[in-house]
Amino acid sequence: MPSHLDTSLACVEDVIPFNRKQQNDRGREPSSPFPIARPSKRGSVPSITSLKGIILVADDDENVREPLVELLRLNCYRVIAVENGEQAFKEICSQPVDLVLLDVMMPGPTGFSVCRAIKIRPETRFVPVVLITGLASAEDRIRGIEAGADDFLLKPVKKEELLARVRSLVRLKRYTDELENAETVLCTLARSIEAKDPYTEGHCDRLSRSAVSLAEKVGLSREDCNDLRRSGIVHDIGKVAVPEFVLLKPGPLDAAERKIMEEHTIIGERICAPMKSFHNVLPIIRWHHEKQDGSGYPDHLKGEEIPITARILQTVDIYDSLTTDRPYRKALSQEKALEIMWEETRRGWWDADLVSALEGLLTESPLELAAASV
Ligand SMILES: [Fe+2]
Repeated sequence: MPSHLDTSLACVEDVIPFNRKQQNDRGREPSSPFPIARPSKRGSVPSITSLKGIILVADDDENVREPLVELLRLNCYRVIAVENGEQAFKEICSQPVDLVLLDVMMPGPTGFSVCRAIKIRPETRFVPVVLITGLASAEDRIRGIEAGADDFLLKPVKKEELLARVRSLVRLKRYTDELENAETVLCTLARSIEAKDPYTEGHCDRLSRSAVSLAEKVGLSREDCNDLRRSGIVHDIGKVAVPEFVLLKPGPLDAAERKIMEEHTIIGERICAPMKSFHNVLPIIRWHHEKQDGSGYPDHLKGEEIPITARILQTVDIYDSLTTDRPYRKALSQEKALEIMWEETRRGWWDADLVSALEGLLTESPLELAAASV
């Protein structure tokens, strides 16, 4: 970064005041709490390539907001400044943002509720949120943590502290983006394999949704549900190594072809293994074709040796394949599919509790799972 920026920042006060009253008490010009260092005219505007990130600043008090904005711009961040929570949420939904600095007390939705809304929305849940507050009580901190805030800054905001937090959270957002990109590549690969077979189109997305529904029904944690959501998409990714004459064969596979096909569980695990965030997804990929009596593959695990998440995925996987068209038969009805699953459960293949839970789910909310199966 050009050295003139550092020099100009040296004259910015260390503390950003937090309201007009405090500022006036200190006898300053209302619109300018401290001398704002402006970039010199010669090449001082940060070029697009030197931008460090995009920061959304939401504060109804311009005497707090404007100095914050200036400070961040001088430090090569692109800043979107808004006056209330409603505008803040609108902005974050309409463009990519690397970090949100939210005042807690604003007209309309408070910083707590905007933070909660950001963290609930799948597209924005990984955007770090810092709550800027004059409230130092433990109760407010707990409210902030419950709303999903990543960090807090107490008013009056200290310049160096602010910049240090901003730097580290924007860096964290970069790592999350990289991880998300890698996940997107894996999911795209998985979907491209699915697209090869017209009979399995939409299977991954359906499985992803119905596996989460069944996991919620049997009381699994949010983390397990998240692993199942991802495994629904990538569980058959190892089929990338299965030749098309085997993958798309309309009739039954012979012994050699079956052996090739069964490899997809091990290959899938190998493809996803480098992703640390897929650590708990790997057992689901490897063991989604195991059977309760040990007659499945690849490791012939029995009963509870097969993780519950893998058993959930296989339960909805079987139901989905029975209720969709195949080259050799039309889709079966819900009743017929369950009848077959119960028959195979008695034979010792599937987890009776999970088949029963699936049946309950289909009875309780047929539309929900029907939507998942269409
Ligand atoms: Fe599979």
